[in-house]
Amino acid sequence: MAAASAYIEQHKEKFEKELFELLRIPSVSTDPERKEEVHQAASWLHNHLSKIGLNRVETFDTEGFPVVYAQSTQREGLPVVLIYGHYDVQPPEPLEEWSSPPFDPVVRNGRIYARGASDDKGQSFAHLKSIEALLSEGKELPVNVKILLEGEEEIGSPNLPPFLKEHRKMLSCDMVLISDTSMFAENRPSITYGLRGLAYMEVLVQGPNRDLHSGVYGGTVRNPANALCEMISGLTDPNGKVLIPGFYEDVVPLDENEREAFSNLPFDEEAYKKSLGLDALYGEQGYSTLERASARPTLDVNGLWSGYQGEGAKTVLPARAGAKVSMRLVPNQKPGKIARLFTRYIRSVSPDGLKVTIKTHHGGDPAMTPLDFYGLKAAGKAFSDIYNTEVLFTREGGSIPVVADFTRILDAPSILMGFGLKEDALHSPDESFSLTDFHRGIRTSARFLEILPEFAELRL
Ligand code: BES
Ligand code: MN
Ligand code: MN
Repeated sequence: MAAASAYIEQHKEKFEKELFELLRIPSVSTDPERKEEVHQAASWLHNHLSKIGLNRVETFDTEGFPVVYAQSTQREGLPVVLIYGHYDVQPPEPLEEWSSPPFDPVVRNGRIYARGASDDKGQSFAHLKSIEALLSEGKELPVNVKILLEGEEEIGSPNLPPFLKEHRKMLSCDMVLISDTSMFAENRPSITYGLRGLAYMEVLVQGPNRDLHSGVYGGTVRNPANALCEMISGLTDPNGKVLIPGFYEDVVPLDENEREAFSNLPFDEEAYKKSLGLDALYGEQGYSTLERASARPTLDVNGLWSGYQGEGAKTVLPARAGAKVSMRLVPNQKPGKIARLFTRYIRSVSPDGLKVTIKTHHGGDPAMTPLDFYGLKAAGKAFSDIYNTEVLFTREGGSIPVVADFTRILDAPSILMGFGLKEDALHSPDESFSLTDFHRGIRTSARFLEILPEFAELRL
């Protein structure tokens, strides 16, 4: 360990430079114009994995973007850790809101600013660097390591479940290690043991065959924008409780122990409000902000359009309107069932004289890791050793659909060892990642791999 720590300390600058190279590749998986760059990120990682001394590196083509895979020499009797990350990123738009170009990483105030700095290039790269450091000791790794990097997480990982099934043997492992979440707060490291699932819908409402004069026709035809707003407002009550019949049917209620643990987390509601520029929060009655943000299901409009958007007033009755709606799910809700319930409900409130089309986009299952899993305890110890503070156990509201697939297909629990922070602005302009946490992340990863065999043996 001493040698690895020294190596990590001595190569800080090199690590940053390498990460910058990766961040310069605009691997936006949603953008058909960026296909080549997504492939380029995969091949950059392939080369990099070969360079750090892993003995098997392979790129697998899929129907979408490639899976980059690597493994260390596998030795009998040692735990197998599969490290997962994604090299694709969200679109950077709106570009004019960035203080510096999204694919031209810079450091300001100790943070790396770039699209993907935190989600997920910076966070996943920390593990590659810890492995490099451990291998630099000239001996074998303390555990068996497998690495799986995909390029389709931000579009719902459509090709990953079939890949897991096809390569079940190659990917067999005792646990999956993922850094693609956030810590509770600065200097408050946490392990995430629950993630929400997702169902994502789109509703299109078509009215008359063209935009109409709102004076000449207003009052005689159903306005698609008015109708869509009515349909949407019926989806929730004024506190955000979802009114779709059957929506809560499969929800596992929070148990008293967990609620108690939630209430003991050092959450500062005032600071939370302030960080968002709000003077009041909102949400389902009877639940705290932390519970609402991670352990309760939600429904939110994510996009809404219709009619005239330009300057001034154009008197027009729009021909069509549309909305995108995300629902975050908790155990044991199923995205397929929720999509059906949503569709049935919208159909039941669709007015005559309008054509309503409902589309289901990609979704994902919620996921939980059992709190008594020895891997979680080892991860907690690694965090507290490096950050010199007690680790917290939390749930988060975002989704990583493949986590449920790892459980279902590989029968492996996931350890969500996030190095990010809320202020990293994932998916937003000016995404960033703290340099301190990048380097502490590398050390935490190395520490975890070092101490894991002991935890595995004693099933601590
Ligand atoms: N890394 C995020 C998920 C995340 C972020 C989980 C912060 C917990 C805390 C991931 O890349 C992501 O953005 N997931 C999408 C879902 C996906 C299907 C597009 C999400 O949560 O919206
Ligand atoms: Mn991510
Ligand atoms: Mn993301």
